[in-house]
Amino acid sequence: MVKITETILRDAHQSLIATRMTTEQMLPIVEKLDNVGYNALEAWGGATFDASLRFLNEDPWERLRKIKDKAKKTPLQMLLRGQNILGYKHYADDVVDYFIQKAIANGMDIIRIFDALNDPRNIERAMKACLKEGGHAQGCICYTTSPYHSLEIFVRDAKRLEEMGANSICIKDMAGLLIPYEAYNLVKALKESVSVPIELHTHYTSGCGSMTYLKAIEAGVDIIDCAISPLALGTSQPATEPIVATLQGTEYDTGLDLKLLSEIADYFRPLREEYLKEGKLDPKMLGVDINALIYQVPGGMLSNLVSQLKQANAMDKYEEVLKEVPRVRADMGYPPLVTPSSQIVGSQAVLNVLSGERYKMVTKETKGIVKGEYGTTPAPITDEIKQKILGNDEPITCRPADLIEPELDKLRSAIAEYVEKDEDVLSYALFPQQAIDFFKKRQASKYRLDSSLADFDNNIHPV
Ligand code: CO
Repeated sequence: MVKITETILRDAHQSLIATRMTTEQMLPIVEKLDNVGYNALEAWGGATFDASLRFLNEDPWERLRKIKDKAKKTPLQMLLRGQNILGYKHYADDVVDYFIQKAIANGMDIIRIFDALNDPRNIERAMKACLKEGGHAQGCICYTTSPYHSLEIFVRDAKRLEEMGANSICIKDMAGLLIPYEAYNLVKALKESVSVPIELHTHYTSGCGSMTYLKAIEAGVDIIDCAISPLALGTSQPATEPIVATLQGTEYDTGLDLKLLSEIADYFRPLREEYLKEGKLDPKMLGVDINALIYQVPGGMLSNLVSQLKQANAMDKYEEVLKEVPRVRADMGYPPLVTPSSQIVGSQAVLNVLSGERYKMVTKETKGIVKGEYGTTPAPITDEIKQKILGNDEPITCRPADLIEPELDKLRSAIAEYVEKDEDVLSYALFPQQAIDFFKKRQASKYRLDSSLADFDNNIHPV
């Protein structure tokens, strides 16, 4: 039997409509989702936290509690960037611990933890905290291809995560690079080497997703990530319903009720229409983008490159930049291309081409990755590149977060005037500006509510 994790409340809308689904749009369907019998509902983390504060004027913690309130049977799952939590830099251990404590206290069950460089030292603290709080800790291998990456490397990484205490392992194919027969071999190798369940997460970007799942299922994968059809395919996950139908009556039968799934799809279909009409859903996101497989470059990264080149009035250099990307990636030790490494490699490739000389100009982030500020790169960086980019600056070899002092107390005193609940300090730690803006609006709307209630009171008392 294969289990399905439903991504409609997190990755599906993150991938298709820039994470703009509101809590209000989610809540009416959560009970029905809870009745399906999914392995988990991925409902939080990733970019949802940032987007709630920044674009939706919502408290992400409240969303979590409201969803939990209606999903009492199905475990809730979130995506966490290891020592980056849900932000874009490394945080001190005390912030990581406290965030995970609060996430679990507010209803989170499964925490999927990854690191862009697959450096286990960036995952370890979060995993320990999750296990300590009684959560299910899922360790991730970010899937990528390079002359350095092989089945042996991925098996080594998975074993390391299992030894660290991971309750399950996720193959995280964020760019849709995992093709069906490779998936078969990878899952087979992992099933032979680790004993915890294996989950596969892919995106439909290159059009292979469903085939990849089918081969992974034949190789013994335990769980796959799917999205209900109205927000599936394209840059999102393979659709839930056809997978369920495909497996019906086989040894892999998911046991999920297609009729119930189609009722859930009925709920989301008008929302999809609304997103299309509002321009939040770009039909371009729904097509097949084979460039990911040809250039080994994630779709989102290609569109970033195009916009950088357009800004510089240098679209004629596009082919040259595309060729430079894999060279820069090799120089940087073959990081998987995912946030933030994809942006770092992409921007540096653009600089290398536009300045007419490789590494004549270097971004702060390129320097950071070569210096070891993001952790250890999969393959070693050559001395020649180190010399060229760092000069006499010494590289870091320790775990990057070891260099960060505890931060919580300072953060608490910085926002004392706005705090209404414990979790506020965490929102501020991750997204200071967005959190402050949100806190200010919250205070203002509360005042309005108080005074309108007072008006109401005044009006009825005399009667
Ligand atoms: Co994803």
